[in-house]
Amino acid sequence: MATRGELVEDIVALGSIAGSKATVDQFVFSCAPTFLLNGLASGAEGMIGLGRTPIALPSQISTSLGTQHKFTICLSSSDGNGIIIVSDQAPQDSVFGSEISRSVTYTPLFSLHEHFIGVKSIKINGKRLSLNASLLSSNGGTKLSTIVPYTTMESTIYATFIKAYIQAAASMNMTRVASVAPFGLCFSSKGIDSSKHLRSKVPAIDLVLQSEMVKWRILGRNSMVRVNDEVMCLGFLDGGLSPMTSIVLGGYQLEDIVLQFDLGTSMLGFSPSLLVWETSCTDFKLDSWPKYSL
Ligand SMILES: *[C@@H]1O[C@H](CO)[C@@H](O)[C@H](O)[C@H]1NC(C)=O
Ligand SMILES: *[C@@H]1O[C@H](CO)[C@@H](O)[C@H](O)[C@H]1NC(C)=O
Repeated sequence: MATRGELVEDIVALGSIAGSKATVDQFVFSCAPTFLLNGLASGAEGMIGLGRTPIALPSQISTSLGTQHKFTICLSSSDGNGIIIVSDQAPQDSVFGSEISRSVTYTPLFSLHEHFIGVKSIKINGKRLSLNASLLSSNGGTKLSTIVPYTTMESTIYATFIKAYIQAAASMNMTRVASVAPFGLCFSSKGIDSSKHLRSKVPAIDLVLQSEMVKWRILGRNSMVRVNDEVMCLGFLDGGLSPMTSIVLGGYQLEDIVLQFDLGTSMLGFSPSLLVWETSCTDFKLDSWPKYSL
């Protein structure tokens, strides 16, 4: 949905790690009618743009401060705050610690207005799926989108993916149960500790990127959605035949990882799931950073 609104301009003060006072003197935004919030996550009161456009939040900050267009996000699940860092230096160490910073892997980022990466193939528990390569790379490749809650795949890709996942799950003795909408594949979660991140309990999904060596590994935290105490479902949905984009990596798959967008060098940095370190995006406290009032 889209609508017209008034463009508003104001001054914004930012917290700064460098200790220098940072303000955006001509920050533009719009007050939207509440119906535009329909369909967003509950509690959402607005949207910020993260795409490659001049009015995206990181672009406005970088332009105003005269820094390179580079930003890092760490999205949290339902409760708690996530993080956006807009900086051309590498503040990751001071925020996430050196171990997580060092774990970041880089892949070419294709940014038109939206952000795309080049997924060459997909593996489940190390086994490559036989997918149509030209379909995978069509229309810019795989899109990253926080607008869709769960990853969607074009129907033929989804069918192959689900078939392979069912096989891998069976070999891990997972018990299939009736599907719960909107998901197409669900399992019993009995006997699986919900406080753990299901790392070795469910099949690992690898998105193979520019080479066999570069993989985006999706572990249980980002693949399985706990529907209730007894049922968990695979958080990937059928995107239909001939969608605009064959694969859209959705919000659930982007939570609790560090994502670093460098629009200058066109590279995306991604960390493994932070649950590997038994931490999450809500655990990094920025409260100790100096904040400035206007
Ligand atoms: C692969 O996908 C393309 C569309 O991107 C389609 O034209 C082609 O027929 C597909 N090939 C096979 C073998 O399905
Ligand atoms: C699955 O169950 C079979 C039979 O009970 C057992 O031999 C096998 O070790 C189990 N596999 C896993 C991965 O738990």
